[in-house]
Amino acid sequence: MKILVIGGAGYIGSHVVREFLDRGYSVTVLDNLSSGSRLNLFDEAAFVHGDIMLPLRLREAMAEGFDGCVHLAALKAAGDSMFRPEAYAEMNIAGTINILNAALSAGIQNMIFSSSAAIFGSPRHLPIDEKHPKNPENFYGFTKLEIERLMDWYDRLKGMKYATIRYFNAAGYDVQQRVKGLEMNPENLLPIVMETAVGVRKGMKIFGDDYPTRDGTCIRDYVHVNDLATAHVSAFEHLVDNKESLSVNLGSETGVTVREMIQRAREITGKEIPAVATERRPGDPAELVASSAKAREVLGWEARHSDLDSLIDSTWQAYRNHFRIS
Ligand code: UFG
Repeated sequence: MKILVIGGAGYIGSHVVREFLDRGYSVTVLDNLSSGSRLNLFDEAAFVHGDIMLPLRLREAMAEGFDGCVHLAALKAAGDSMFRPEAYAEMNIAGTINILNAALSAGIQNMIFSSSAAIFGSPRHLPIDEKHPKNPENFYGFTKLEIERLMDWYDRLKGMKYATIRYFNAAGYDVQQRVKGLEMNPENLLPIVMETAVGVRKGMKIFGDDYPTRDGTCIRDYVHVNDLATAHVSAFEHLVDNKESLSVNLGSETGVTVREMIQRAREITGKEIPAVATERRPGDPAELVASSAKAREVLGWEARHSDLDSLIDSTWQAYRNHFRIS
């Protein structure tokens, strides 16, 4: 079967591509390489240098025919989206409309979309399951929710099936170390911890230590990208087998505090990782933890690498290799 992975040179996309290749699929990556990297391309996958803002290029790429399309191309910094909503509206919402319309013309029946826990906003109850109210509190989350709604309409009106996968905190690197490119200018906790461990940063900030949590720092649900990747393949197979769209939340169902992450990283890397508590970052809820019960039931999914040590160790290996640290 043939899969088109849009955004397949990115951090999560490259892991998704690797998993489809491992399972014997024929894969084409379409990416504009703005945040993705050539280092993340695999020889076994075809590559198209394209852009979701160029509909003709999308149509050309899709014309050869695909059984499914995974869409991961997006702007993703929640804080940034509050200052540049027009960029997020264009890239995320208009870009997805381009993809859906090109896919319709090309007769692609199955879409897998990388959504986010950000569609839920501050938790009303924990863990966050699929029935949780959807009230995004940043523009990034709004764009993801709008796209989910769009996909639902395309299913109802055109019969295009979709799987939306709402990631909680994606983290880790391929446990077999086959993904070589590091994210440029990372904004997420674990890569910042690693940049501090390797000395790219002199120190890091802990955004608030006065939250009502066990050590005062925010609790998040970190899920390994290899585990996210398997969910994409299972979701595609679900669409093919059942011809039924679905939306699932995907997390490890385990909460980790910022301090716990840093402390365990110090132990695993043997590095000091200086960190000072500063004021809270606006918009951070105290605790976010997923329920992945539906993913387990419907997709048979299970987290195999999302324990704290595997998350940190796999990321450390990627940084060590990149910075040639013995
Ligand atoms: N943090 C720090 N210092 C840093 C960076 C982060 O203390 O230098 C803290 C944050 O305040 C937060 C936690 O680490 O408490 C995790 O922060 P991230 O920026 O890594 O992740 P977020 O939880 O803010 O958001 C991530 C994705 C979103 C997604 C969300 C879903 O970036 O796109 O997970 O759970 F919506």
